[in-house]
Amino acid sequence: PSVALLGIPLEYGAGARGTLMGPAALRTAGLPQALAGLGYGVTDHGDIAAPDYALTADLQPLAERCRNVAEVAAWTRVIHDRAYEVLQSDGLPIFMGGDHSLSMGSVSAVARRCREQDRDLVVLWVDAHSDFNTPETTPSGNMHGMSVAFLCGDPSLAPLLGGRSFPPVPTSRVHLFGIRSIDAQEREAIHAHGLGCSDMRAIDEFGVSVLMRQFLEGLDPERTHLHVSLDVDFLDPHIAPGVGTTVPGGATYREAHLVMELLHDSGLVGSVDLVELNPFLDERGKSALLMADLASSLLGRSILLRREVGTRRPSLKPN
Ligand code: ARG
Ligand code: MN
Ligand code: MN
Ligand code: MN
Repeated sequence: PSVALLGIPLEYGAGARGTLMGPAALRTAGLPQALAGLGYGVTDHGDIAAPDYALTADLQPLAERCRNVAEVAAWTRVIHDRAYEVLQSDGLPIFMGGDHSLSMGSVSAVARRCREQDRDLVVLWVDAHSDFNTPETTPSGNMHGMSVAFLCGDPSLAPLLGGRSFPPVPTSRVHLFGIRSIDAQEREAIHAHGLGCSDMRAIDEFGVSVLMRQFLEGLDPERTHLHVSLDVDFLDPHIAPGVGTTVPGGATYREAHLVMELLHDSGLVGSVDLVELNPFLDERGKSALLMADLASSLLGRSILLRREVGTRRPSLKPN
């Protein structure tokens, strides 16, 4: 098996600067070596170069409500094109960010590829935030808070892709996991559109295992391409301080690894975003190391966490 790494040094979608250093920090944390150690052939496609940008007429209507819209639009287009190219190679792609607005480019390319291959794209959004704001509802203007709305086909955000087309992800095929910060209008929109959601309250009550199994059981194993979009702020700020939008009460070290292990066991993961890592805010690389290790868990096995003693797992179902 092989993986394809693509670095996306983007920070224009976030409120804080510094995520452009994310890809370098993930490499420094040993992500390529860890994956090679699991037996993958690793191709590192390097970093996407910053594109030129201009506030063209098609973007003008967005400019008032969306910060850095010209920059984000230029990046979305180049990310989409480059991701689509990388998807032609046979490695499992890992998009290393960069702020979460990069998913507008990466996941739209995955959606296009899935349509060609007659696969059902399902998106698992692992995040403290639902990122379902639109230019109309955003309280901050930060475009990393709009990625899910864009991917589900919000018409006001369509100009970002500059004429390229992709099949919008049906809201019934998006599942939000780990949510604990939603804006008022976002909450209404999530209910109105029927997105799946395992919020932190549900995780507290039922645990990640039950919720993740329920989600995975709903997927057709023959048809599903599962894209996992992992935002650093899913994790509790104590274990992952290297992010601009920390929210208290996040996933623990063990919960996060278990989520990755269950996803790995499903065999359905086809592509991954690692986003929002901000090395400028990190403490001695600990968030970068954790993200690299969670990616290792997702693709097979943690490099740092040795917790298996070889016991058989108890079956939860009779027989
Ligand atoms: N909901 C807030 C907003 O729209 C925060 C979004 C944070 N998103 C993220 N990808 N960290 O501004
Ligand atoms: Mn996010
Ligand atoms: Mn977030
Ligand atoms: Mn495993």
